[in-house]
Amino acid sequence: VTRIAVLGTGEVGRRVADGLASAGHEVVLGSRTASEETRSFADAAAFGEVVVNAVGGLVSLEALAIAGQENLAGKPLLDLSNALDHSVGFPPDVDATQSESCAERIQGAFPQARVVKWLNTMNNRLMVQPSALPGPSTTFVAGDDGDAKSVARGLLRDLGWADEDVLDLGDLTAARGLELYLVLWLRMAVALGTSDFNVHVVRA
Ligand SMILES: NC(=O)c1ccc[n+]([C@@H]2O[C@H](COP(=O)([O-])OP(=O)(O)OC[C@H]3O[C@@H](n4cnc5c(N)ncnc54)[C@H](OP(=O)(O)O)[C@@H]3O)[C@@H](O)[C@H]2O)c1
Repeated sequence: VTRIAVLGTGEVGRRVADGLASAGHEVVLGSRTASEETRSFADAAAFGEVVVNAVGGLVSLEALAIAGQENLAGKPLLDLSNALDHSVGFPPDVDATQSESCAERIQGAFPQARVVKWLNTMNNRLMVQPSALPGPSTTFVAGDDGDAKSVARGLLRDLGWADEDVLDLGDLTAARGLELYLVLWLRMAVALGTSDFNVHVVRA
């Protein structure tokens, strides 16, 4: 059993928190304001041995600053954010480039956290129930800290991902591709008329 703080009370944070709690972990939700069901970002992060960033990519640095450098230091910080700018209409702009990603910005701002990019490439329903698709599909991890990536892989297993379907893309600069993939993901969602799909990487 791992103590996990999920920062973010949107659909995604709640879904991932439920999934990890169902797997037997002790999970708290973090929010800007504490309530009966949520803790403040800082209290949640202090509680967690592992912290999941499930707020928007454009406000992640703000939310994590409230969570507090000291409450993130040394911990795996598993980032599933995408920096989508909805102000431009649909599809939203993806604020990632070939030279920077949200995950790297987070790692830069919180150097003692052990940032792993994970789960940003699919709809939240599939994050916690990959078996909802009729066959195997691929999920990715990237990060500079091997132990933190092992933690992420263990939690992915708990969420139902088979080890062979987790593709480790290497260091955290790989998050650029994972975040830019949203440009393609959004167009696939339109073309397919659903967000219940995922890619499966097939190799020789
Ligand atoms: N939709 C999907 O299936 C999907 C798939 C992959 C990745 N993602 C990513 O998952 C993340 C969460 O998405 P979501 O739709 O669940 O939630 P969201 O609406 O993007 O985020 C909600 C959370 O953001 C916090 N927040 C909003 N503005 C803030 C600010 N200025 N400063 C600090 N915190 C702020 C809110 O705090 P309060 O609790 O205080 O309101 C809340 O906890 C996003 O990065 C999204 O791109 C989504």
